[in-house]
Amino acid sequence: MAASVQVPKLKLNDGREIPAIALGTYLGFDANGIIRSENHQLRDIVTRAIDLGFRHFDTSPVYHTEGEIGEGVAGKMSAGVVQRGDVFVTTKLWNTHHRREQVPVALRESLKNLDMNYVDLYLMHWPIGVNEDYSNNDVDFMETWRGLEDVQRLGLAKSIGVSNFNQSQLQRLLNESSIKPAVLQIEVHTQMVQAPLVSFAQSQGLVVMGYSPFGSLVERFGAPKPSSQPLLEELAAKYQKTPAQVVLRWLVDRNIIPMPKTVNSKRLQENINIFDFQLEKEDIEKINGLDTGLRFTLPSFWQDHLYYPFEKVENPIPSPFGK
Ligand SMILES: NC(=O)c1ccc[n+]([C@@H]2O[C@H](COP(=O)([O-])OP(=O)(O)OC[C@H]3O[C@@H](n4cnc5c(N)ncnc54)[C@H](OP(=O)(O)O)[C@@H]3O)[C@@H](O)[C@H]2O)c1
Repeated sequence: MAASVQVPKLKLNDGREIPAIALGTYLGFDANGIIRSENHQLRDIVTRAIDLGFRHFDTSPVYHTEGEIGEGVAGKMSAGVVQRGDVFVTTKLWNTHHRREQVPVALRESLKNLDMNYVDLYLMHWPIGVNEDYSNNDVDFMETWRGLEDVQRLGLAKSIGVSNFNQSQLQRLLNESSIKPAVLQIEVHTQMVQAPLVSFAQSQGLVVMGYSPFGSLVERFGAPKPSSQPLLEELAAKYQKTPAQVVLRWLVDRNIIPMPKTVNSKRLQENINIFDFQLEKEDIEKINGLDTGLRFTLPSFWQDHLYYPFEKVENPIPSPFGK
C-alpha cells in the first residue's frame, strides 16, 4: 500500500488551518443532467483518498456527493484512521437559498446529507440568487452573506467564504461584512491564470482555492479536445513528474489550493504526490505565460442577472436548470 502523504496546511484569517490540496467531487454532467456516483464509487474514492493523505473534500449540494463523502469519512473514523477534526469538509450554499433565513436551512440539509454536525468551510457558490423555478431574483449577496455570518456564529460552519465573486464584488463584501470571508474559490488553471484576482484576494488575507486545475489538459464537455502542451511536458521531464503534477504544483507554489477531481485510484495517488518538489520561480512565470483567459465554467444563461460576475458573451448557452 502507498505511504500516506503529509499534506501541509495554510492559515486562514480566522485562525483555523486548511489543507493545501482538496479532492474535487463534482462528477460532471451529461444529457441526463449531473452525473451521480454509482455503486458507492465516490465513497470508495474518498476512503482511498484518506489512506493516501487527502484530508480536504470539496462538495456542494448540487453535486449530489455530500452523502458519499460523509460515508467515506465516517468509515475511516470508525476504523480509527482519522478523527472528525483531522478532516476538512467544504460545501456550498446553492443559488436557490440566498435569502438570509434560508441559509441555515440549506446548511442543515447539507449537514444531514454529510451526517456531520458542522462543516469546516461554507461557501456562497455564486453571488447570484434565483427563485425555486430558476427565475432570477435580486436578493443582494450582502443579505446572503449575513446568513453565512449567522451559520458561523451558530457553529454550523467553522469558516465562511465565497466562490465565483469578481474583484469588485469581493471588495464590496470586504467593505460591508461583519465577518471577513476566509476563502475565495475560483477557476484557476494554465489557461485561466487569474493573476490580478488571486493577488487581490491574497493581499486582503483570503486563501484562494482553484477549481478545474487541469484546464484543457483533460477532456471537458463542450470544450475543444485536450491539446498537448509542450511547455508542461518539458517541465514534467525536468522535474521527473507528470504534466498534471506540474500544474498542481504550480498552484501550490502560488499559495492556491488545487482541488483536482478524480475517481481513479492511480490518478488520485498521482495528484497528491506533489509535496516533494517545488517549481523554480522562472518556471512558474513561464506557465503564467500560457494564460488565454479561457473559462470552462461560464454560466452565460445567468448573464442578465444583476450580480453576474463574468464578462458577457454574444450567444449565451441555454440553462440546464430550466428557466
Ligand atoms: N465553485 C465552483 O463553481 C466550481 C466549479 C467547477 C468545479 N469546482 C470544484 O473543483 C473540482 C475540480 O474541478 P473539475 O472537476 O471541473 O476539473 P479538474 O479537476 O481540473 O479535472 C477533472 C478531470 O481530470 C481528470 N483527471 C484527474 N486527475 C488526472 C490526472 N492526474 N491526469 C489526467 N487526468 C486527470 C478526471 O478524470 P478521472 O476522474 O477519470 O480521473 C476528470 O476528467 C470539482 O470536482 C469541484 O469540486 C467548483
